[in-house]
Amino acid sequence: MAKLECEIAGIKMKNPVMVASGTFGYGEEVSKFVDLDKLGAIVTKTITLEPREGNPPPRIVETASGMLNSIGLQNKGIKDFIEHRLPFLAKFKTPVIANIAGDSASEYAKLAKMLNEESAIKGIELNISCPNVTKGGMFFCFDPKATAELVKTVRKETSLPLIVKLSPNVTDITLIAKEAEAAGADAISLINTLLGMSIDIEKKTFSLANKTGGLSGPAIKPVALRMVYQVAQAVKIPVIGIGGIMTGNDAIEFFLAGASAIQVGTANFVDTQAPIRIVKEIKDYLKAQKIANYLDLLLLLK
Ligand code: SIN
Repeated sequence: MAKLECEIAGIKMKNPVMVASGTFGYGEEVSKFVDLDKLGAIVTKTITLEPREGNPPPRIVETASGMLNSIGLQNKGIKDFIEHRLPFLAKFKTPVIANIAGDSASEYAKLAKMLNEESAIKGIELNISCPNVTKGGMFFCFDPKATAELVKTVRKETSLPLIVKLSPNVTDITLIAKEAEAAGADAISLINTLLGMSIDIEKKTFSLANKTGGLSGPAIKPVALRMVYQVAQAVKIPVIGIGGIMTGNDAIEFFLAGASAIQVGTANFVDTQAPIRIVKEIKDYLKAQKIANYLDLLLLLK
């Protein structure tokens, strides 16, 4: 049996298949269909300091081989998460990684400090790449120095592993990744969505009320793979690949590109069993190829 257990940025996982933020809620609804204990890790929907209503609808539209969303970080805030969402997730053995966002570095830092007290949280993913909000979010990922300052500020407030989730909407993603690493990040996850647009020609208006949204799904996989490969060459910390992963073979491509783990996102909307199926498909591939440990794949393609 090929080895899938791994430790990414100090987070022990039974397999390298995580579920991506915003595609799995806080696990409770999905747990009716998916055995959460079979997942590598659960990354929560983005949590902010105060509740947010998000952007007005419509805020999701299907596109060719993908979808656009402009949710705008809707969530009930950190207090609600700790009191009402986390106790459910804490019942499972699967590590929980809290994805957080703020309008300012001090908001990120406050969130990290609060989460540091929660034993059920095994890591923090800093969302500096949401394309659907006017404050915070992508401000921090456009400028390598702003990324570094943010990571340093948050690093002071938590001993939890810090994963920084990067945006593809930049000129050179490796510059941002290197600054995040130097500032104390334990891992990099990429890519968040690509800024896009869809127009309804019958109504002659934008499909999304926010006009623009983040593109995800198979349409973005080649871009994600290219960026994962570039970042994996540029940093020494683990890279977590995200972007249009629908099958085990997609995941294998990301491992070959240098990702130590992957996150399944849009596929969860199509098939609730996708992450579990992907684990099996990875195992089948490794068995057929006589590869003992999936991590061996990371060294094959330079
Ligand atoms: C959103 O809530 O708008 C999506 C989250 C993200 O893209 O980071």
